[in-house]
Amino acid sequence: MGRVDGKVVMVTGAASNPGLGRTAAAALAREGGRLVVTDIDGAGAEDCARQIRDAGGEAVALAHDVTSEADWRRVVDAVLERFGRLDVLVNNAGIAILKPLESLTLEDWRRQIDVNLTSVFLGCRQAMAALRASGGGSIVNLSSVAGLVGIPTTAAYGAAKGGVRMMSKTVALEGARDGIRCNSVHPGMIWTNMQAQATGAASPDQVPPDVLGIPLGRIGTPEDIANCIVYLASDESSYVTGAEFTVDAGMTAQ
Ligand SMILES: NC(=O)c1ccc[n+]([C@@H]2O[C@H](COP(=O)([O-])OP(=O)(O)OC[C@H]3O[C@@H](n4cnc5c(N)ncnc54)[C@H](O)[C@@H]3O)[C@@H](O)[C@H]2O)c1
Repeated sequence: MGRVDGKVVMVTGAASNPGLGRTAAAALAREGGRLVVTDIDGAGAEDCARQIRDAGGEAVALAHDVTSEADWRRVVDAVLERFGRLDVLVNNAGIAILKPLESLTLEDWRRQIDVNLTSVFLGCRQAMAALRASGGGSIVNLSSVAGLVGIPTTAAYGAAKGGVRMMSKTVALEGARDGIRCNSVHPGMIWTNMQAQATGAASPDQVPPDVLGIPLGRIGTPEDIANCIVYLASDESSYVTGAEFTVDAGMTAQ
């Protein structure tokens, strides 16, 4: 029996490879989840779904811009039409515009807040009724260590991720009486396309961990984060809500 057997799970931003959404979706499918994977890159989302099906899992893909209110309505309606329920929403889609404060344009700021924060508001709000109708469920919001501590170049990114952290706690309190849990996950430095772009490195071993000050001495893998997401999606975490899960190899313990 899988850890999320039969649960209908939606993961946004699941196209990137390597990416946290894709790896989490695959892990959730291996644990018996019925996956809906979405991304603004519809072909990439389809590729993710195909990979899950090829491995014997269940997955459908939908093109989805998480900044669009109309898209959220369409996508959640499509999930309900196809599966009749929604049990878990993983708000994973995100972008990183990393620049010193004085170089950040207003357009950079607005785009960052839109994709990383407004999207989570739209997703949580759209999912509430569907989760309530399913008898409760779990929302997992991807924040960041940049939502916990200050990091140069992350004025906009960190503001958005800090917002995700606080919004998750409010959603947890408002959803509690309906059995809707909501928690935030705060990854440290995890090797994905986003991180490759941020570091300019071609592979994780090109980024020396001592330079990064990572106490456990290595860059994380997407599986490190997927393990936390599976836990929060599953009933193993049924007494956990409004909490923040830092998965950063000790970076923010310093
Ligand atoms: N990788 C890390 O080290 C790290 C650290 C902390 C937090 N995070 C967070 O984890 C999440 C996943 O990060 P990742 O490293 O896998 O990034 P990634 O860039 O590899 O993947 C992000 C995915 O989001 C999708 N996306 C972007 N804009 C979108 C939009 N408007 N609508 C729908 N989809 C959109 C992209 O197409 C892509 O598939 C993000 O929220 C990121 O901020 C990542």
